[in-house]
Amino acid sequence: MKKITIAIDGFSSCGKSTMAKDLAREVGYIYIDSGAMYRAVTLYSIENGIFNGDVIDTEKLKNEIKNIRISFQLNKETGRPDTYLNGVNVENKIRSMEVSSKVSPISTLDFVREEMVAQQQTMGKEKGIVMDGRDIGTTVFPDAELKIFVTATPEIRAQRRYDELKAKGQEASFDEILENVKQRDYIDQNREVSPLRKAEDALLLDNTHLSIEEQKEWLFRQFNKVSK
Ligand code: DC
Repeated sequence: MKKITIAIDGFSSCGKSTMAKDLAREVGYIYIDSGAMYRAVTLYSIENGIFNGDVIDTEKLKNEIKNIRISFQLNKETGRPDTYLNGVNVENKIRSMEVSSKVSPISTLDFVREEMVAQQQTMGKEKGIVMDGRDIGTTVFPDAELKIFVTATPEIRAQRRYDELKAKGQEASFDEILENVKQRDYIDQNREVSPLRKAEDALLLDNTHLSIEEQKEWLFRQFNKVSK
């Protein structure tokens, strides 16, 4: 079997990362959650006085972007990679509502995207990687052998994120999450740099009515077809 590059793009909270992580673990590939990288930059901005209220100090962020080191390390308990920001595990912090509501404007900044895309391309040099995000099949790895574009209705995606936060014991309001999901869809699709769109050669997967098991099976079928 040859080593390939797998790009999984789509809307927020549509189960992309669950399927990408499972596939990577099963086939022994590296998994990179590119959204976690934009979330880590957002957390850094909040914690370092760059993101105040609704205002981003872009000059300060531009000066500091090269000092923001993002890495991933396997969490032995969960069997999944945790996100590290300058050596500190921020996996829980980057999933908070505050970061979720501020990540879109950060991810529209061209110099942030340039830096993240460069880091992601370095991570994928050797192939054998599954990366999920918004622009992986279009910008980061336009030559990926397998590209998937995932969608589901906003309501079902909000419900999934609500269940996820509740399971972790975090406070959550369904209406707030739904609003956040819709807002992010809008910003993700309408930003100038690398807007969310399906690459022409990506396979479309609408998982509104699929269980995790069903979509896993579908994904494995596609992987087996391409990596033979
Ligand atoms: O997948 P996620 O919800 O964790 O992503 C967080 C945000 O980061 C989302 O609002 C869009 C942005 N993002 C992006 O612009 N490009 C990517 N490749 C991944 C995420």
